[in-house]
Formats: sequence, C-alpha cells, structure tokens
Amino acid sequence: MASASFQHVTKRFAEGEIAVNDMCLEVKDGEFLVILGPSGCGKSTALRMLAGVEDVTEGVIKIGETIVTNVPPRNRDLAMVFQTYALYPHMSVFDNMAFSLRLQGVDQADIARRVNTAAETVGLAPLLKRLPRHLSGGEQQRVALGRAIVRDPQLFLFDEPLSSLDARLRGHMRVELQKIHRALGATFLYVTHDQVEAMTLGDRVAVMKDGALQQVAPPRVIYDHPTNMFVAGFIGTPPMNLIPVAVSGRTAKGSALQIELPRDPRLTTGVLGIRPEALHEHASIGEPTIDMQVDLAERLGRDQLLYGTVGDDSIVARVDPHLRISYGERVQLGVDMQSIHLFDGQTGRAVL
Ligand SMILES: Nc1ncnc2c1ncn2[C@@H]1O[C@H](COP(=O)(O)OP(=O)(O)O)[C@@H](O)[C@H]1O
Ligand SMILES: [Mg+2]
Repeated sequence: MASASFQHVTKRFAEGEIAVNDMCLEVKDGEFLVILGPSGCGKSTALRMLAGVEDVTEGVIKIGETIVTNVPPRNRDLAMVFQTYALYPHMSVFDNMAFSLRLQGVDQADIARRVNTAAETVGLAPLLKRLPRHLSGGEQQRVALGRAIVRDPQLFLFDEPLSSLDARLRGHMRVELQKIHRALGATFLYVTHDQVEAMTLGDRVAVMKDGALQQVAPPRVIYDHPTNMFVAGFIGTPPMNLIPVAVSGRTAKGSALQIELPRDPRLTTGVLGIRPEALHEHASIGEPTIDMQVDLAERLGRDQLLYGTVGDDSIVARVDPHLRISYGERVQLGVDMQSIHLFDGQTGRAVL
C-alpha cells in the first residue's frame, strides 16, 4: 500500500494555459479518494502527472515517502484504468490480463495464479477464454480493471472509468469497485465529473474547478458544509437553490422572501443557499416560509420535485409525493433553518 501526495503542483502547457494550479493534496494509504470537477478543470492532468506520463511544471509529487517527480512511469508501482479500456481485440480475457506480466518476464505458473486470482476478484473467472468482442461493456471494463489488479500495484489511478457505461451498469460497477477496493486494501485515486460517483465512492472527495482545488472532505461534509458557492451548486441533484439577497444585520431579503439569519454575517450582499429538501410543505411554528408559484410537479416515487418561482428566482423543492399540486398553483413552503447556507455575494465563500 502507499500514500501519494501533490505538493504545490502546477502544470502549465506550452500555450501558457494553467491546467493545474498549485495543487496540494494527500491521498492516504488505503484511501479511496475522488477528484470531482467539470470537464476541463484539470483532473486528468493531475492524474497523469502522478502516473508520470505528464511533466510537472512546478512542485513535488511523492508516492509514500519517495519523491517521484522525475521518476519514469514504470518505476512508480501504480496502475491506471481509463474510460477507454483499449483491450487487445485478438487476445482472450486471460491473455489480455496476462500481457503485462509476460512483458515483465514473470513465469507461467505465477502468471496463471495471478490472473486467476484477479479474475476472481473482478468476477471474470468463467469468461477467461472469451474474446473482448464477446463481452458486454461492463465485462470489458472489468477486464481493464483485472489487468491493473494482476500487476499488484500500490496505487490505482482511475480516469472516468465508468463514463462509457449505461446508467444501470454504472450503478452496478460502483458497487463492484467499492468491493474491490475493500478486498485489495490498496490506495485508489479516482477522477470523475459525475457527482453521484464521487459521493458514493469516495472516502473523501476533492472538488476541483479551473485547475484549483476547492474543498477536500468526506462526501457528507461536502454536501452539508460546502465551502463556497461553486461546491454548493455542483453537488446535489437537483442542485441547491441559490437566491441573491440583500443583507442588513441579521435580515436577508430576496425579491420575495425575508429570512432572519441565526447571526449577523456582516455582509451587504449575499446568496442564500437552500437545498430542495430543506423546503417542505408543513411549516412548523416560527419557521420562515416562502410562497412558491409552481410551474411543474415531478413525482418520482419516493418524493416529488416542485419547480417554480419565488419572486424573481427559480426554485426547486423536494416534497412529499402525496402532496397534490398542479401547474399554476401556489404553495407555501417552510424553510428548514438548520440547513440553510449563506455565501458572500462578492467572493462566493460560505459565511454561514
Ligand atoms: N496536452 C495538452 N496541451 C495543451 N492543453 C492541454 C493538454 N491536455 C489538457 N490540456 C488543457 O488543460 C486543461 C485541463 O484538461 P484535463 O486535465 O484534460 O481536464 P479534465 O480531465 O478535468 O477534463 C484543459 O483546458 C485542457 O484543454
Ligand atoms: Mg479528463
């Protein structure tokens, strides 16, 4: 097992564009850490620098206690799994998984033992003789995973490995990946733009934007205590409602709402953050309410999403599926003050 760390790592491409900006991040030994961010924010570049296939412009990369910034990829004892799994089409599953071991000159008996063990781990034991074209997408992805596992690396790097699978298979593979992580006890660094993947897989999630880390914390903390408006808006489906407010002392006023904040945030302009589930149809005594004009009600089985407006602002609320509301109706919703957020209107930083 191994830890890995980025210490003030910056990547500037030839055109001068900064892909990764002063990144400081430690992946702990045995941890499943997910880097989450929109497309183009620098996730793959960060991962590729750790793998050694991309040069570092500034800073230091360590694996365990060793500085590997200039160590060639083959000496870093890690394996990388990509979105495109690039299996050798003319080779069986067994041979695909055995390939790198053969290159290393590992002896036949050892290869057979390691491939069989890895095949068990990823659930491919019955399919070892198949060719890739006779496998489903999920099975092919498991071959790619198996191919990484046979090498028995200290550290696994994953670059959006599930994005080419359909939703159901992705859900299944998420569960498989967690089991495999537990079984191997290895260190996993996983990058994705998919917040559901990040929230379900990660022991911790590192949210990234424009080359810069925004927040690194366990999923629950990221969800409940986003450090800024970007993180708040990026995590959660549907996303948090963000409502511009004018603040005066403890009073926050929106276009059609007024809320007494738990304390004076010492701001004049802010953005109030209310998750859809923090709005509910039965306001308790003393709870502030908002008056929502409903445009659309979406019943999802376990809950119901109401889309509409409060004054000038678009709002989504997650309410009881049995509540009967139709287009054009108004509904009064209580605001759960325990779970509201306030962001600085200038910096976007969370202040409450
Ligand atoms: N080889 C390259 N040359 C120049 N710019 C690159 C190169 N690779 C990536 N970039 C740029 O760096 C930024 C980050 O890219 P990338 O790390 O691939 O993002 P992500 O994986 O988060 O989608 C993007 O703006 C991208 O265009
Ligand atoms: Mg990428």
